[in-house]
This record gives sequence, C-alpha cells and structure tokens, in this order.
Amino acid sequence: MFNFNVCHVIVFKMLLMGGLLSCASRFTVKGPSGPLVVPLGGSVLLPCSVDSLSSLEDLEVEWKRSDSQTLIHLYQDGDIRPDSQHEDYHDRAHFFTENIKQGNFSLLMKNVRQEDEGQYTCTVHSGQESGETVVEIKDVERLIVSGSDQSLSVYVGEDVTLNCSVDSHIPPEHIEEVSWKKRVKDEHITLYRDRVEFFSDEIHRGNFSLRLKRVRTEDKGLYMCHVFAGRFSDNTTIVLQQLDATDSLLLFCFCLSYSVHHLRMSLVFCPNLIMCFAFVFWGVSEGSVSETVCCCALYILRPLLLLWTAPYINDFKGLINLKRHFNII
Ligand SMILES: *[C@@H]1O[C@H](CO)[C@@H](O)[C@H](O)[C@H]1NC(C)=O
Ligand SMILES: *[C@@H]1O[C@H](CO)[C@@H](O)[C@H](O)[C@H]1NC(C)=O
Ligand SMILES: *[C@@H]1O[C@H](CO)[C@@H](O)[C@H](O)[C@H]1NC(C)=O
Ligand SMILES: *[C@@H]1O[C@H](CO)[C@@H](O)[C@H](O)[C@H]1NC(C)=O
Repeated sequence: MFNFNVCHVIVFKMLLMGGLLSCASRFTVKGPSGPLVVPLGGSVLLPCSVDSLSSLEDLEVEWKRSDSQTLIHLYQDGDIRPDSQHEDYHDRAHFFTENIKQGNFSLLMKNVRQEDEGQYTCTVHSGQESGETVVEIKDVERLIVSGSDQSLSVYVGEDVTLNCSVDSHIPPEHIEEVSWKKRVKDEHITLYRDRVEFFSDEIHRGNFSLRLKRVRTEDKGLYMCHVFAGRFSDNTTIVLQQLDATDSLLLFCFCLSYSVHHLRMSLVFCPNLIMCFAFVFWGVSEGSVSETVCCCALYILRPLLLLWTAPYINDFKGLINLKRHFNII
C-alpha cells in the first residue's frame, strides 16, 4: 500500500521529469489493529477509515467478503445502495452515513453468526484515489452442545449411543470438562464403569457421545451431557426410554414357544408314563410281577428311544417316500 506522501513524491518526480501527469494514487485506509473476536449473536464494529478525505465527490465505499466477494454494503453517488446488498446482511449491516465526512466508513455487523467468520475488504474510491483494508473476524465465540431431539427407545440388554456433540470456537482438546449425569439423582454416569464407553478417537471432532452397554430397566430416564470451557458452558439432555410393551410381547412369545416345546415333550412322555402306571395297577391286581416289570420298562424306555432316534429323522424320509412310491405301483 502506497502512502499519500509517497504518491506526491512520485507525482513531483514525474512532473520534474516532464512526464504527463496521471496518478492513480492510493491512500491509506486504516483497519483494526488485529483480528476480531465476537460472541455468537453479538455485534461487532468492522473499522475502516481514512485520515484525510480531499473531497466527498465520487466517493464510493464498498464492503465485501474477501473470499466470496459477496457485497455487504455499498455507498455510491452520495447514497447507500441497499438493493445491491446481499440479503443476508439486510438487517445486520449498519453503515454510519453521518460519519462519512470524517472519513469514517466503519460497518456495524449485528447478530453475528458462525458463518460470519472470515475476512472482509473495505474498499474506498474517491476521485483519483483509492485504497482498501482487510478486517478479519477470527472467531465467533460459542459453545453449543447438541444431542438428539427425540427420546431414545431401546430394549433391555441392547447397547445404546447417547449423542453429545460440541460446536465451539474452542478446539475440543481444550475443553475443560465434559460430564455425563443421570438427572434423577444427579449421579455421575461414570459410576456405571464397565457399562459405559467414550469414543476417544471421535473427541477431536467434538463428539463426546457415550455408549451405554447392556441396557437395564433401571437405566430408563433423563441423561445430561454438560460441557464447560472457559466462561462458557452448555448442556443437552436425552431421554432414554425402554419399550416395555414390546418387552412383554417378547416375553409372551418366549413363554409360548417354551410351552409349545413343553407340549411336545409331554406328548412324548405322558402317554408312556400313563401306560406304565396302568401296567403297575394291572400287575398289582393280577399279581404278575415279571410281566408288569417288562411292560413298565418298555414304556419308560420308549420316550428315551424316541429322543435317541429323533436326530436321525431325516434319514428315514427317503425310505418313507420309497414306500409310497411302491404302493402307487
Ligand atoms: C467510526 O464510527 C463509529 C460509529 O460511530 C465509531 O464507533 C468509531 O469509533 C469511529 N472510528 C473512528 C476511527 O473514528
Ligand atoms: C447421533 O448422531 C449421529 C451422527 O450425527 C446421527 O446419525 C444419529 O441419528 C444420532 N442419533 C440420534 C438418536 O439422534
Ligand atoms: C460419535 O461417534 C460414534 C462412534 O463413531 C457414532 O456412532 C456417533 O454417531 C457419533 N455421534 C455424532 C453426533 O457424530
Ligand atoms: C442447561 O442449559 C440450559 C440452557 O441451554 C440452562 O437453562 C440450564 O440451566 C442448564 N442446566 C444446568 C444444570 O446447567
């Protein structure tokens, strides 16, 4: 950037050299002394000024984002031009028209968002002179902790991930404390020791989610992830809910299959046991001990025999089919 005076010297030299006078001179436009840090939702003054302004004629001041070249504010032909301004900045960028005479072209940016982080160029044209300065919004200070909006449903015995992600200007590794608590008794969830785990390789991404393993009925409730960093702190809550209805349905199904299993077993055992008892009574009334013992033993052993051959049931299928085949012939 050229200095005003330097420019004059050049003009002087050019005049001395007898050259034609044409100086597209540049003048010093002052910006802030360093990058700016703004709290999320706050306001920030983007400074831009010149020491001396020779004339207000042909004055043009242009504020743009340096990266996208989005026009934030334009002062041209003695007036502000809101129609050429990007809509994102309609209500958020305030230009002090009354300060123009003092060479002050600062812009007040209100309701600062995270995406406002970046560099801004203030360009001033006046007559033959022009100059610019770059203003940087380095950090939009914030700490936003988010989890999941809906409550989580999970079956007893399953594992569940409780989401907790941190969006902050503070890098995740500089966050001082993250605590997971169950809200009822405010007990630290780390008490669950062997049943919880963090995703340590996800922490640099601000993911402080927690995995709760082998969920129990008493795990049902409200969980809170609380994050502290400097003077900032935020929290998110998650409701963990078990599907008890489906649990009992599962239990019912289990009981049903259990009883069906029992039914089958009783079909195998009951008739044989009854026959066995019948022979005992017959033996008592008729007095034939040897026959009673033989028949009883036969009926007691029959279910065992059935169970013993059950695994080979498929081997007989072919035989059965063969028989049918011959019957048809
Ligand atoms: C420019 O104007 C703003 C708003 O009135 C003021 O806050 C700021 O101090 C001024 N800057 C200079 C360099 O005068
Ligand atoms: C947890 O976060 C992941 C990644 O953002 C997302 O895919 C998932 O749906 C979230 N879970 C819940 C229950 O919100
Ligand atoms: C955090 O990391 C875990 C493990 O990779 C993943 O399941 C979960 O969805 C992540 N959560 C978010 C919010 O990104
Ligand atoms: C959790 O955050 C909310 C605002 O997001 C706040 O009102 C509340 O007091 C916080 N809870 C605790 C225990 O800090």
